[in-house]
Amino acid sequence: MIGLNRYIPDEIVEQIRASSDIVEIVSDYVRLKKQGRNYVGLCPFHNEKTPSFMVSQEKQIYRCFGCGEGGNIFSFLIKRGNLSFPEAVAVLAERSGISIPEEDDPERDARAKKTEQAYKLNELVKDFYQYVLKNHDIARGARSYLEQRGVTPETADKFQIGFAPPSWDSQINFLKKKGYSVEILEQMGFILAKTKGAPGYYDRFRNRIMFPVWNIQGKVVGFGGRVLDDSLPKYLNSPETPLFNKGHLLYGINKALESIRRLDQVIIVEGYMDVISCHQAGIENVVASLGTAFTPEQGKLLLRYTRQVVFAYDADTAGVNAAMRGWQVLDDIGCRVRVVSIPEGKDPDDYIRNHGPEQFLLLVNERALSLSDYKTDRALEKYDIYTLEGKFKIASEVIPSIINLSNEIEKDEAIMKLAKRLHLSPDAIRAEVEKNARKSRNSWGKRHKITGLRDNKTNFAQPAKSQKEEKDARSKAEETLLIMILEDKSVFSKIKGEVGVHFCSNQEYLNIINLLAEMIENGLDYQPAALFDRMPDEASAGVLSELMAKETPADNKVKIIQDCLKTIREDEIRKKREDLLRQMEEADRNRDQNLRNQLLLEYSKLI
Ligand code: CTP
Ligand code: MN
Repeated sequence: MIGLNRYIPDEIVEQIRASSDIVEIVSDYVRLKKQGRNYVGLCPFHNEKTPSFMVSQEKQIYRCFGCGEGGNIFSFLIKRGNLSFPEAVAVLAERSGISIPEEDDPERDARAKKTEQAYKLNELVKDFYQYVLKNHDIARGARSYLEQRGVTPETADKFQIGFAPPSWDSQINFLKKKGYSVEILEQMGFILAKTKGAPGYYDRFRNRIMFPVWNIQGKVVGFGGRVLDDSLPKYLNSPETPLFNKGHLLYGINKALESIRRLDQVIIVEGYMDVISCHQAGIENVVASLGTAFTPEQGKLLLRYTRQVVFAYDADTAGVNAAMRGWQVLDDIGCRVRVVSIPEGKDPDDYIRNHGPEQFLLLVNERALSLSDYKTDRALEKYDIYTLEGKFKIASEVIPSIINLSNEIEKDEAIMKLAKRLHLSPDAIRAEVEKNARKSRNSWGKRHKITGLRDNKTNFAQPAKSQKEEKDARSKAEETLLIMILEDKSVFSKIKGEVGVHFCSNQEYLNIINLLAEMIENGLDYQPAALFDRMPDEASAGVLSELMAKETPADNKVKIIQDCLKTIREDEIRKKREDLLRQMEEADRNRDQNLRNQLLLEYSKLI
């Protein structure tokens, strides 16, 4: 496999696209059945029981009519296979036996080599710890510790758990022998410089059970190490390194992906041991946030797979306030966040050990509160509800999560509930909600950047179809023309002569027609599926996939084009007339008889 950030020339990308088949690639992930000209199957991007996922071999695109996902062979591999664009290209290149030419960029090569070396080092250290845990006498205590906590050897293997020996230099000696410099060992957080005595280094992790932490592709990027007793700190983690960025990682995500997607839900817990216990008990849609508040990056990682998020936290976690800010982050980017407090001050690991997985799932699925309910409970504990100030504080903590509710009925219910608990009128709360909603709408652009989605809430609440059904004749005509150009480039010049290039009235259509025009007018030959890689934003790409998934009737093409053009021309004239009428009113108000007559003349020409 080639490096991660390399540039691949367009011609090569095109060549690779042309020699790959989307049906073949998608079939690795989805059982497809031929249906008419297309293939259909269960959508791999959302949970469904009847197939609404379509793949067109002819057009080399896919589209789900349920969730709206769509794109070409590259976007499929990027979204479904968790690959970057160059990685997706490389995978296809390998399959079709095309080699990607090496291009000279010493700096990039050096960086790629360093990254490669860093991954290798982490892998090696993981093997070392694992070997020690399994085979070495000094790990006897560690083995019985795990046994006593109910971790089976199979689970330990699955999570690649290991043991760092108690000595000060066993890792440094082992790794130096393997040829690693102290610089990289220090940079990757395995050794620390001595601060006293003779200069030198010592091992960071000593006498600890070691939990490797993986990135989403399952590569080891760092470690967490737990003591065997009550000494402090309980956990020691790798420092931030070029590979280990806590705010971007979720412990266990690589092992949880399949289950998250299948169940369309993720359970987020606090600790390494909670994830491990859940998996051992057969609950696999579980990840941990590595002891920090949730970040938008972590949320973004999850959004690709599900929007249903349940936080299962220890009821009296000290950091619950910090955690709540993280939950709000997820709520803000469009997840449906619920929270369950594990009773008796227990964490999921304890709870499962005492009550079994069924009881735990019952808590998660039946007892989880919506974020606004949870916040209300917490705020009621914190503030004095009998003072005005108390009421105000409670309301201001809860309202942000009410605003985010996408469903009006849910929203109304949350408002009523809060009003009742605060002994205020629902109208007062509703007014506050509205005021705050207006404020947060103004910062909407920010949210857009985080998710890359146009408005994930409305998209989510109502499937794309119902919006489409309301479409007026003008956009219907634009849509049909775009579909026809996508099917047959020669249609473009006919249309251009009649209504120009910019005949579309919404931004996504404009983005699409502009790109089409640019490519056609420059005589560029392209496969329609290639357009996805050049779309300026997700929204336009979504619309493009929708257009490509549709077909126009094969016969009477000329007549259809004529009808569409007529609709567009009439709509333009209607707009012009309306504009003239407005100007005439203005002229009337200004008692400008001359102008009025002139406008009237123009107006009469348009009828
Ligand atoms: N954590 C950490 N550093 C610490 C304490 C905790 O990084 N000094 C992180 C770890 O990722 C840990 C999580 O916070 O897994 C939750 O901490 P805690 O609930 O104390 O630990 P548990 O995972 O429950 O571990 P155990 O059951 O072994 O006590
Ligand atoms: Mn625990």
